[in-house]
Amino acid sequence: MVSESQAVQQSRNRELLDKIRRLMPGGSLGTYVQPDDVAFVVAYGRGSKVYDVEGREYIDYILGSGPAVLGHAHPAVVEAVQRQVERGTQFYWLNEPVIALADKMVQAIPCAEMVKFTSSGAEATFYALRLARAFTGRDKIMRFEGSYHGHHDYSMLGGSAGIPKPVSDLVITAPFNDLETTTRLIEQHRHELAAVIVEALMRIVPPKPGFLEGLRAITKQYGIMLIFDEVVTGFRLAWGGAQERYGVTPDLASYGKIIGGGYPFAAVAGRADLLMLSDPRDRGPQYVYFSGTFSGNPLGATAGLATLRELEKPGAYARLDEIGERLRQGLREIARTLPRPMAVLGDGPIVGIAFVDGDLTSPRVVGGGDKALLKATEIGLLRHGVLANIVAKFYVSLAHDDGDLDRTLQILDDVLHQVCRQG
Ligand SMILES: Cc1ncc(COP(=O)(O)O)c(C=O)c1O
Repeated sequence: MVSESQAVQQSRNRELLDKIRRLMPGGSLGTYVQPDDVAFVVAYGRGSKVYDVEGREYIDYILGSGPAVLGHAHPAVVEAVQRQVERGTQFYWLNEPVIALADKMVQAIPCAEMVKFTSSGAEATFYALRLARAFTGRDKIMRFEGSYHGHHDYSMLGGSAGIPKPVSDLVITAPFNDLETTTRLIEQHRHELAAVIVEALMRIVPPKPGFLEGLRAITKQYGIMLIFDEVVTGFRLAWGGAQERYGVTPDLASYGKIIGGGYPFAAVAGRADLLMLSDPRDRGPQYVYFSGTFSGNPLGATAGLATLRELEKPGAYARLDEIGERLRQGLREIARTLPRPMAVLGDGPIVGIAFVDGDLTSPRVVGGGDKALLKATEIGLLRHGVLANIVAKFYVSLAHDDGDLDRTLQILDDVLHQVCRQG
């Protein structure tokens, strides 16, 4: 029997979903859509969980697409933000939180002699590429097959309509973890290449030993800028990001997600001679326009700073690694009992699965796995109260406790067996 109050709540969820489908394409905020029987509207998040408008609880491994590394509504972040809200939320002017965050980033990030802020990860990679072009006087960029650097044309080539054809002449795509082919392509285009942009942990595929080092050496040799896209990995894989974890220092790095503590906030960090091209006091021929209404927003900087203060406490990264490894270990044990091959990938607090059997160092192989099965797993998990963007990755947070992990692995065991039997 459904009680009267439950019926009211359920009709509220239905009503909201019907409304959003009339108002927004596909009833989606971006690319994410779920079938009707599992779609829901989130009411609030706390710690490792989110709750829908019908009061259902979900263990959350999406975490706002990564930023909520402390979990939702962490008390230290809430308190700092509340204080800032009362003091004003947007100035378009220098402010103390933004200077404190810049200071913390320059201390933490190996390549960072300077930083400059913007509002989203896509803008950060876009500006990093623009700086590299201005610095080198060259137009082309290299990216890697299967990478994602945000919504702009250089990143989405091949993944969206509406991109001008000439953009494709400016973008060279190389195979990640294949140093020989990448080197050949770089040598072929060495006089035209401004930058090589790479996710050092390519989605869920770690770099082969020597791959990033090789990229560093060849880009240096030809005066090509090496850009690490640290939007996902920054302050997540390690305090100093992927560049610290893998021991290779790029010329520039793009940051987003965690540095905004749940607010839209992003940055380019890197060599001073590159970032100084955006110094507005010197608008010479190499001057790079780099500005926006919300660049340096004090609320985002405050939330980001409060988040980083928690992350710099002793043991934070060891714990994040431990949580990620427990999930990977549990998944590996489940994989052994499944009727078809499932690979377990990722690094540290980024965990991924793929239904493949082959060279797991190749994003092409990993990305070529059975996507329908991943989607079915995602939907199965939703039915059991686990929220995860399985097609991409599991993000874990410091708020996930052992109880969450045990419950998640139990549910994964059931769901994975079920989808593999059906698939
Ligand atoms: C590696 C990487 N770079 C850039 C972006 C774009 O960031 P944003 O969505 O904040 O524009 C993303 C988004 O997920 C990303 O994963």
